[in-house]
Amino acid sequence: MAAGLGTRMKSDKAKVLHEIAGRPMIAWAIEAARGAGAGRIVAILGHQLDTVKAALDGRYGAGTIEVALQAEQKGTGHAVASALPALEDEPDDRIVVILSGDAPLLRSERIAELTDACAANPSGLALLSTVPDRPMPYGRLVRDASGTLQRIVEWPDATPEERAIPDTNAGFYAVRLGHLRADLSTLRADNAKGELYLTDLVARAAARGGATAIDAPFEEVSGINDRVDLAAVDAAARRRIHEELMRAGVTFAAPGNTYVDADIPIGRDAWIGPGVVLRGKTAIGERARIDAGCVLTDVAVAPDVHLKPYTVASESVIGPRCEVGPFTHLRPKTQLDEDARVGNFVETKKAHVMAGAKASHLSYLGDVSIGAKANIGAGTITCNYDGFGKHHTTIEAGAFIGSDSQLVAPVTVGRDAYVGSGTTVTKDVPRGALALSRVKQVNVEGWADRYREAQSRRKKDDH
Ligand code: UD1
Ligand code: CA
Repeated sequence: MAAGLGTRMKSDKAKVLHEIAGRPMIAWAIEAARGAGAGRIVAILGHQLDTVKAALDGRYGAGTIEVALQAEQKGTGHAVASALPALEDEPDDRIVVILSGDAPLLRSERIAELTDACAANPSGLALLSTVPDRPMPYGRLVRDASGTLQRIVEWPDATPEERAIPDTNAGFYAVRLGHLRADLSTLRADNAKGELYLTDLVARAAARGGATAIDAPFEEVSGINDRVDLAAVDAAARRRIHEELMRAGVTFAAPGNTYVDADIPIGRDAWIGPGVVLRGKTAIGERARIDAGCVLTDVAVAPDVHLKPYTVASESVIGPRCEVGPFTHLRPKTQLDEDARVGNFVETKKAHVMAGAKASHLSYLGDVSIGAKANIGAGTITCNYDGFGKHHTTIEAGAFIGSDSQLVAPVTVGRDAYVGSGTTVTKDVPRGALALSRVKQVNVEGWADRYREAQSRRKKDDH
């Protein structure tokens, strides 16, 4: 169910598209369902259907997640009824799991437990209950003297005695499709909100012996209504991600101050420093050391890499044993082959730095390929842009680019060639040659002393 507006988010974006640990809220429910072995997934959408559907198609492939339209939101019972046409061909004994799109932390294991309970219960209904850690206006589970579930009373309809019941409805269900079909058609909107309550299914199941309620921790089932909830659930999701990684052999120096998105693999014995942010399709290899403050978006980091503090990288590939940083900026399409080194205040973009090449300090390297073991001196700049187009620089293997050189692209520096410090390279440099463009140095003997004398004499004359 994800048709609701999410008014309290105060957002132009559909609530279920707000992200938790880098993954849209609705994708958490979908992935939990998949993890529990769901055969088909139908998203009940209403508000911003097109945008939400586009996001689902983009993430899972067009049409993979089916969509049922609930044009007007007349309650959770009405929402599920809107999805019945999509399930027309399914047999009556099929178990349908109903999840909320705004409760991302539900685990696959819990869904499996819920499904098993439904399968085992002749009433054909199981649901998750929870005891909130603070007062929540949730539906209350009403039981008879023998403990059999009689019904759920919604908060606005409940008496003070009913509101005092600790067990609340978490809003997740597993139900046999045959019962769902029969019972949904009997729902009436004769309640405080004038809605069709899905929760009335519980009273129908009471006539068949009573539904099963499975207690779940509040943190796992709590939903998101506003941005305060969003931040709290995000923190809980990240805690869960960090704990799973730590159990799998990753060291976090400061797990409470590290931000690792969902679905980011990190290899065994990797070390993640304080303040590190790992986003999107990033992956970290074994024994990599990602030091304080690094921010990586869609970066593949090979084993044994050392990213020194405050490396910022996106859409890049960092090969085995590379050393990068501190304060290095790797922009999209940077590829560092094994054992490359890129040091402080170096910016790269569309740069292929081959095995063992080094650019240790203060450079701009854009639209460039740098051959194996080449050395890029401090202050080297690839002049890749002429105001109209971008041009490529090729630096072949073993070349040595002296400090403070400019390489005006398109240009090639041949294998093992030298570029003298301070050279502006505008013509290709042949293999093994030395390129020099600076003017010859002249030394004027005694000039400095004469200059100082002349200056101090002038100062005295002024007084
Ligand atoms: C629901 C339950 C309540 C439970 C609570 C737990 C009902 C009647 N009540 O209440 O017992 O304690 O969840 O969080 O079910 N939605 C639609 N279409 C609609 C209405 C809702 O798709 O017409 C979706 C919402 O987008 C949301 C979910 O269903 O994802 C739950 O709806 P919401 O309005 O939040 O239900 P509650 O009033 O919180
Ligand atoms: Ca809700």
